[in-house]
Amino acid sequence: MGSFNTAMTAIHVLNGPNLNLLGKREPEIYGSSSLEDIRELLQSRCASRGATLVFKQSNHEGDLVTWIQEAGEARAPVILNPGALTHTSIALYDAIKGSNAEVIEVHLSNVHARESFRRHSYISPAARGVIAGFGPSSYLLALDAIFEKL
Ligand code: DQA
Repeated sequence: MGSFNTAMTAIHVLNGPNLNLLGKREPEIYGSSSLEDIRELLQSRCASRGATLVFKQSNHEGDLVTWIQEAGEARAPVILNPGALTHTSIALYDAIKGSNAEVIEVHLSNVHARESFRRHSYISPAARGVIAGFGPSSYLLALDAIFEKL
């Protein structure tokens, strides 16, 4: 991540299935912030650092594969919340490895404190780092990691 110039390279925040429902979806687990609230939070933090934000969500695995490949080609840092694809998707793992994308995996909830099927991630072995359990702040912590060029 040391080579990124965040003033020139857009930071890509990519969100997977069902994250469009945030705010209404199981609020006792995911909280009351909508995805738009999270986008605004990140947008203002990026603006204060002179960085450009690209923020996307899709319920379709193939969209995420394409977006990861594009970010990898652009050498743009990626903050990825793959949703349930975390636990199923070899295609996302291959997209990260194949495009050399620098990905920070984030989760709103602490996936290790929930059902056992959430403890395995196909993404983590390909990720630069993983942040889970801090609600919308998981995304902000990932942004800080990019700004600090960790
Ligand atoms: C999630 C955790 C996943 O297990 C779940 O399928 C999600 C959201 C999170 O942000 O906590 O959709 O990625």
